[in-house]
Amino acid sequence: MTVGIDAISFFTPNLYLDLTDLAKARGVDPNKFTIGIGQEKQSVVPPSQDSVTMAASAGSMLLTGKSTDYINSISEILFASESGIDNSKSGAVYLQTMLHLAKNVRTIELKQACYAGTFALMTAFDYVSLHPNERVLVVATDVARYGLKSAGEVTQGAGAVAMIVSSDPKLAGYNHDSVFQSQDLMDFWRPLDETDAIVSGKFSQEAYETFFANAWQDYIRRTGRRIADFKAFVFHLPFTKMGKKALDQIIDQADGQQQQNLERNRLAGQIYGRQVGNIYTGSLYLSLISLLDHGDVQAGDLIAMFSYGSGAEGELYSLTLMENYQQAIKSHVQKDLNARQRLSVLEYEKLFKLFPKSSDDQSLMNEYDKSLFQLAEIKNHQRIYKAAVSKLLIK
Ligand code: CAA
Repeated sequence: MTVGIDAISFFTPNLYLDLTDLAKARGVDPNKFTIGIGQEKQSVVPPSQDSVTMAASAGSMLLTGKSTDYINSISEILFASESGIDNSKSGAVYLQTMLHLAKNVRTIELKQACYAGTFALMTAFDYVSLHPNERVLVVATDVARYGLKSAGEVTQGAGAVAMIVSSDPKLAGYNHDSVFQSQDLMDFWRPLDETDAIVSGKFSQEAYETFFANAWQDYIRRTGRRIADFKAFVFHLPFTKMGKKALDQIIDQADGQQQQNLERNRLAGQIYGRQVGNIYTGSLYLSLISLLDHGDVQAGDLIAMFSYGSGAEGELYSLTLMENYQQAIKSHVQKDLNARQRLSVLEYEKLFKLFPKSSDDQSLMNEYDKSLFQLAEIKNHQRIYKAAVSKLLIK
């Protein structure tokens, strides 16, 4: 029996910052951002968006129009995030209400920096292997903040990827070939009283590269596969240059023609990340959508997936593309990205400072946000969510 990803979708807020504008405002050569780091634009979060609203928007793209039987077959909601909204209650429970899922569903939030989305997916694969008639909703959702004028500012972003995991999947089958590694490192972290990450930039890049090189060695030793078996490598992309740095370490193992093919597909996999920025847990899966929308791939192809989460944990595994995988992509990412509103650096800085930093009473509605699900206010230390169109909230 094959288990894997049955459907996938992506949501990002409707606002962006052009990084050439940011470079000029920060007195930096724009080529450093667009070529050196490899980022062109970044999604900007209005205060009315958080990890829950973004996950609800992505999740609703997968569930709209589905039958009651389909909805009731979802037994677990796995919410992967490093920008959760509560230290106790999971973001997944909010989704149960917002997406009208059944009461007899498990809900849990998972955290290990950007790696948690992959762990959620692996847990879902295991569950469905034992319960082939059931489905799992996995969401990987984050707001990436490093701070105004910080070195990491250029790599900020926000967004959510939602996936349905099932048996007989339409998008890609999992090959049960994961290799993984953990090491207690301080390369990137966010203390409990901070809204912005603290990062040791160079160290984090070196850690990422080392984890990928080690994972690849381990993978080929355990599976007997070689680079020639793969049509593409898909990466967690904190910024797009990172994927190039990782792949460059092993590309010499491929012959000349395959090197060109792998490089073409690496570029295809970074098209959306270049325009969105880092979305932490969902980044690898946004890269997958980007590859499937733009790459030279077809059903039956073997795709390597590299997940890295600071702190640190890495995992390498493979997916095999299924027939008609294009139909399992439930969002029109480039169309949505083109429809975003461009902000000036001043507008971006204003919104950045409005990000809620406490649970004191505050209204968060604003003129910028056009999303279906919004965080309306914080009242009595509770987040009050509203749906602009209430269809999904009303049975
Ligand atoms: N034209 C072209 N290229 C230029 C240039 C110019 N004018 N000026 C500089 N560059 C190049 C540099 O040569 C460098 O390229 P290489 O790395 O290939 O040598 C690149 O631009 C960046 O320059 P710097 O290293 O000087 O940049 P920086 O010190 O300002 O910081 C950063 C870059 C470390 C990535 C920083 O943005 C940062 O801290 N980011 C957040 C941390 C991060 O993303 N780490 C990644 C691994 S951790 C992870 O993956 C988990 C996660 O999601 C956070």
